[in-house]
Amino acid sequence: MRTMEMEKNENRKNWDDRTKIHEKSSFYDVQSFLKGRCSLLPLEKQELGDLSGRTMLHLQCHFGQDSLSWARRGVKVTGVDFSEEAIRLARSLNDDLGLDARFVCSDVYAIPEALPDERFDVVYTSYGVLCWLPDLTQWARIIRQKLKPGGLFYIAEQHPVADRYEADEGVLRPCYSYFEDKALRFESDTTYASDGTEPPLNHKVTYEWQHPMGKIVTALIEAGLRIVHLHEFPYCMYEKYPGCMVRDEDGWWRLRDEPALPLLFSIKAVNPE
Ligand SMILES: C[S@@+](CC[C@H](N)C(=O)[O-])C[C@H]1O[C@@H](n2cnc3c(N)ncnc32)[C@H](O)[C@@H]1O
Repeated sequence: MRTMEMEKNENRKNWDDRTKIHEKSSFYDVQSFLKGRCSLLPLEKQELGDLSGRTMLHLQCHFGQDSLSWARRGVKVTGVDFSEEAIRLARSLNDDLGLDARFVCSDVYAIPEALPDERFDVVYTSYGVLCWLPDLTQWARIIRQKLKPGGLFYIAEQHPVADRYEADEGVLRPCYSYFEDKALRFESDTTYASDGTEPPLNHKVTYEWQHPMGKIVTALIEAGLRIVHLHEFPYCMYEKYPGCMVRDEDGWWRLRDEPALPLLFSIKAVNPE
């Protein structure tokens, strides 16, 4: 029988493959990043403000562009990701840029063992993270455990409603139940950041979990965090539904002819103790 550990292991191999493609992709554009481009979006910069001098644990940091963008803003960042390839590239970019971010290769669920004695001012995670996590109760407990008293948790992420729709020849259609709680199996040769010219991925299979908003918020509350805000937005940062969206002057993509749906959300929460 397939276990959750086996599913996560498939995902890890897929992310190792993806990282090699992402490193060369125009989507991540490493060259402009090395020249100074900030990969953070206005949303998280506005909602978090000036964090310089604070310590930050960045969960699922991929190959570190966002971690290093925070580091450029004076934050003392520790980025964690379970892909060895992603951590290798993050460390090499850190060295190239002469920054002092630290990158740790660990499963999110193994952070208590990987970083046993540390607590942080901020725990941060963003965009494309929750679908890789089978258990949000445990995730939220680890976040609480890793925050100093008064410390801040922040997530900006694709909205769970948005993930239940797909574009079918320019028409938006529901594709999964909002309440789906089994891992969904996907198989693909490419990644969201492919330029279309790369060889197919060696490890094509991923397993992804869908989490309704109620479960996300309840996991954080039950872990003992105090929610400061839950914001929902009718736009996202890329053309999620090809043929159904327009890019506005502010750079965000919105639905063109459909009634608005929530496409992104952000949560800020505090460790009260
Ligand atoms: C979409 S990326 C993160 C997005 C990031 N904002 C970016 O665009 O660079 C998702 C990351 O989660 C990592 N990941 C998935 N499951 C994980 C787990 N169980 N523990 C740690 N990292 C995990 C993957 O390796 C990948 O780097």
